[in-house]
Amino acid sequence: MVINVGEFVGGKAKSFANSPHGFPASIALSQGGLARFRVFNRQAVAIADPDLARQVLIQKVSAFQRGRPARVLKLTIGEGLITTDGELWEPARQWMEPAFRRDNIISALPGIAAVIEQELNNWEQISAANGQQIELLPLLQTLIAKLSSQTLFNLKWDDETLGSFVHNIDSSLNHMARLLRRPWITPSWVPGSLTSQLRKTGQELDEILGPSLEGPATGVHGEHLLHLLASADSSEGGCPLSSRRRLNEIKTLAAAAFETSTTTLSWTIDLIARHPEIGEALRDEIDKVVGKAAPDARQLSRLSQCQQTLMESMRLWPAVYNLVREANRKVELGEHTLPMGTITIVSIYGLHRNPALWQQPDQFRPERFADHSVSHPGFIPFAIGPHTCIGKHYAILQMQCLLAMLLQRFVLSPVDGHLPKPVAKVTLRPLTSPRLFLRPRHGN
Ligand code: HEM
Repeated sequence: MVINVGEFVGGKAKSFANSPHGFPASIALSQGGLARFRVFNRQAVAIADPDLARQVLIQKVSAFQRGRPARVLKLTIGEGLITTDGELWEPARQWMEPAFRRDNIISALPGIAAVIEQELNNWEQISAANGQQIELLPLLQTLIAKLSSQTLFNLKWDDETLGSFVHNIDSSLNHMARLLRRPWITPSWVPGSLTSQLRKTGQELDEILGPSLEGPATGVHGEHLLHLLASADSSEGGCPLSSRRRLNEIKTLAAAAFETSTTTLSWTIDLIARHPEIGEALRDEIDKVVGKAAPDARQLSRLSQCQQTLMESMRLWPAVYNLVREANRKVELGEHTLPMGTITIVSIYGLHRNPALWQQPDQFRPERFADHSVSHPGFIPFAIGPHTCIGKHYAILQMQCLLAMLLQRFVLSPVDGHLPKPVAKVTLRPLTSPRLFLRPRHGN
């Protein structure tokens, strides 16, 4: 027998680090929905079965706590919704949740549409100056940063501040991804270490986002989310959060919104460009339901093919591909017993590609969602349970609005024939930015 020394020492740490999205999905799917493996001295399980996922995320949620990614993210963000559990998490979630309900979020739509309109004017000029080509990812990063700053945080940044925000978020995510591939964490007092760099980007984000706590109640575009949070504050007898914690929550929202939305939109827009028949059907639907004006919330909710396309893109390329937890006690999951401390990975990527749940799971077929517009047990791009994405309605609203306004104005096609390769960093994103032709439609 040949002993693989690397595997003897590290378990499956290397396979996991090489493909953090593909490895847990493939072993879980090859072993009936749950597979055990070892990462150095820790036991781990990967799950791609909807019932077991529900047990971890809903029925037995108190038996699990956040895992290592949250501890690493905490270096930049501090204690916030996405890095805490239990009593550090619950009061903040309760306080913030009302502002994120769909009926509150739709008041931000006119502001969202105004930012998108301005940015699409830029996209048109850029494509006209470059043989009708655009580099999608950087344009989406600028758009999402502007949307967050103006419609969530009431901040109007100059180009330098916007560039610094994008740079800081981007570099902290890169540092995080590198740190998560290592079994050890160098203390942050070691100069130049990844941890010290993560803390530094956190301080720079404090400076960029701090002014949003001091702004007026009405935003750059009328209602904005902090205003809604402020009204929750006064109507319910005072905010339970310290000003430090409020700033952490603003950083949390900024970081959570930025990378997930840019990644999801870049996959979705690229997929539409590569499927001209789908692009045409979407343009027809948008012309019929919305016409040429900016869409309102009622019209967006009637764009069923647009919704199906977005869902199918999130199924194939879920921005958040793993939910990582640790068992805080011994816990039974179906017929499996997980010892305390087990690293528990719910593979969203695996669930979304599980052939027992989806026909031809690797194919892009938006119409599969025509029968599952409400819910499908194997589709959880925003997670499920108490830690479900708080920004889900905002994310969907801004993404649908962008798709509608983009396709009102342009016909998209890919510059080259190669599908973008995925790379799993903190999110599952295209390895290189998609390059597209953006041709203005006649009559616009
Ligand atoms: C396409 C866009 C998005 C996707 C796919 C997405 C996905 C997710 C997922 C899967 C989680 C659960 C993470 C976990 O429990 O480990 C999550 C949590 C969270 N998301 Fe999102 N998200 C998106 C956009 C947003 C936006 C726009 C915001 C803010 C405006 C946001 C704020 C948050 C926050 C604060 C949490 C932590 C919730 C909690 O634990 O209480 N997300 N998101």
